[in-house]
Amino acid sequence: MIESWILNELFQDLTDPFLITALVLAVVHFGTPLAYYWHAKTQWLPKPWNIRVDGNYRPKVTVIIPTYNEAEFIQSKLDNIYYQDYPKSLVEVIVIDSASNDGTVKLVEEWGSEHRDINLRLIKEDKRRGKLFAILKALKHVSRESDVIIFTDADAFWEPYAISKAVRYLSDPTVGAVTASITYFEEGLENVYRSYYNLIRIAESKTHATPVHNGPFLAVRTCLLRKFGFPDFPGSDDSSFGSYIAFLGYKAIQVDNILVKEPVRGSTFRRKVRRAQHLIQNFFSTKRYAKKLGVYKYNEQFEKTWRSEWWLHIVNPWLLVLALVLLIASVLYGSILATALLGIGLAFLSLKAYRTWIMQQIYLIIAAIRSLWTKEVVWDK
Ligand code: GDD
Ligand code: MN
Repeated sequence: MIESWILNELFQDLTDPFLITALVLAVVHFGTPLAYYWHAKTQWLPKPWNIRVDGNYRPKVTVIIPTYNEAEFIQSKLDNIYYQDYPKSLVEVIVIDSASNDGTVKLVEEWGSEHRDINLRLIKEDKRRGKLFAILKALKHVSRESDVIIFTDADAFWEPYAISKAVRYLSDPTVGAVTASITYFEEGLENVYRSYYNLIRIAESKTHATPVHNGPFLAVRTCLLRKFGFPDFPGSDDSSFGSYIAFLGYKAIQVDNILVKEPVRGSTFRRKVRRAQHLIQNFFSTKRYAKKLGVYKYNEQFEKTWRSEWWLHIVNPWLLVLALVLLIASVLYGSILATALLGIGLAFLSLKAYRTWIMQQIYLIIAAIRSLWTKEVVWDK
């Protein structure tokens, strides 16, 4: 009796249009990224790089470090560059500080006077207008001979061969930009997210370019910036950079053999929402920007990658929200199946990978809403 009652209830639940729609949305929400991940891992990742490396290429490299209150890290950051295996005579470092009030400038000056064998330039802004503004200003101070510019953060620590490895890729004229894979000093969800994320970025790069690059290590051919300019919309100093270079018709790749470590600092929530805002900005602005400038070049493969990532960042998170709303509505209407599914969905949160995914969706959703009134050009740590 009881069994037939349950079966009857379940059958009725299955005709509930809210529940059915919720299920379809959930399948699409979880299915598309899984399918994309699978495709990237099995079809793209194993591909060779298809890049012609010239081991003798020794370009002049400019490293740009924007700083705002980086007293804690700036000297170790400068050491980190100083101890790269690349010839110091070929490196110039530009620190652009935006009126830090924690002694950053003094620490840079001190370090400079103790390391006179490397070309260090310090530019002081009188006011803080954000990282993008600072970078645009620093670009005016890049020496004429510069062949490669590497943008970085004060708290990003490169492995000692980072420059040498990056310039090897850039020795192929079809490569416009190279970004590193990021890991964190601390264990935890941030690293779970990164391992999934790095795999996709590297796999996409094997096909031509990845639309999302990493601010802690962005190497680019200087002549491209001279010819086409540096994009000046918010977020362009970070993730969008890869897309911009790819839209110019060059390969923009994240590589697996350059590792950069970062500490997790400040509020995770605020940082993740800000980065998500910049990602959303990327998918809204970069293509339009390149077209408006008249520099956009069509690349069939990159368009596919771009569209997939556009879907994953802009549309897909909202399917989860809709599915959840409909599921809760079904629960309120007394559906047993909906209650069970909601329970399973919540129980899965004990799995790290699932929890990381759900958190990322939440950040993207909050970021999308927040983007309506602020672009996060200046931020607190
Ligand atoms: N000159 C200058 N002026 N530098 C700034 C300013 C500013 O107003 N604001 C931040 N910076 C510097 C920081 O000192 C640091 O060197 C770098 O920009 C990155 O800032 P963090 O505070 O460390 O931010 P993050 O760790 O979340 O950085 C990531 O996200 C940013 C975009 O949200 C990285 O990917 C960055 O490259 C990216 O710009
Ligand atoms: Mn940082």
